[in-house]
Parts: sequence; C-alpha cells; structure tokens
Amino acid sequence: MPTVTFLEADTRTVVQAPAGISLMEAATRNGIAGVVAACGGGCSCATCMVHLDADWFARVGAPDDNEQMMIEFGVDPRETSRLSCQIVLTEEMDGLVVEVPDNQV
Ligand code: FES
Repeated sequence: MPTVTFLEADTRTVVQAPAGISLMEAATRNGIAGVVAACGGGCSCATCMVHLDADWFARVGAPDDNEQMMIEFGVDPRETSRLSCQIVLTEEMDGLVVEVPDNQV
C-alpha cells in the first residue's frame, strides 16, 4: 500500500492509501484540510491542487490538456502542479511527497 506525505504550511502528514484510489481521495479520507476537492473529483474546480517536486512530477506524469487548463484557474499554479483527483495511486508511487497550497478556496 503506497505511503504518501502531504506537506501543509506547518503540518506533515504521512498516510497509507490503497493503490487504485485517487490522491485526492487519499487526502480527504485522512483529513488533509488543504485539499478541498469541491467538485468531488470531476476535474472542474482546481481546489484539489498539489505541487510535486520535479522528480515526482516526472514519475507521476504531466496533466492532460483539460487538467492543465483547470490548474491555471487554481491558486498558485506551478510548473509541477497536478490536480490530486486526477492522479490514481499505484504501488510505484510509494513515498510520494506533495505540497498542498495554503488556501484553495
Ligand atoms: Fe475538483 Fe479535483 S476535486 S478538480
């Protein structure tokens, strides 16, 4: 079961989440308040944004055009941002670390 670390402003939360669920689901199931996920995973709100470092971004993959468009509506979009609802966890993502923006509403 992959282990994922969520970095918030002053909190580091390490969770275990089953492969096959989205990173957004892993966040909301574990009380990561910064992942708001207002649209429930429909790739239409951008309040589930996370930032990856360059290595993890390369491993997880770039967003498709629709996701990229939504990212640009989000708070503090970066080159290595993803919408967590669009990342399906795999065993290969064990050790993933993501940064959660301070405020996504
Ligand atoms: Fe709305 Fe991810 S939950 S875009």
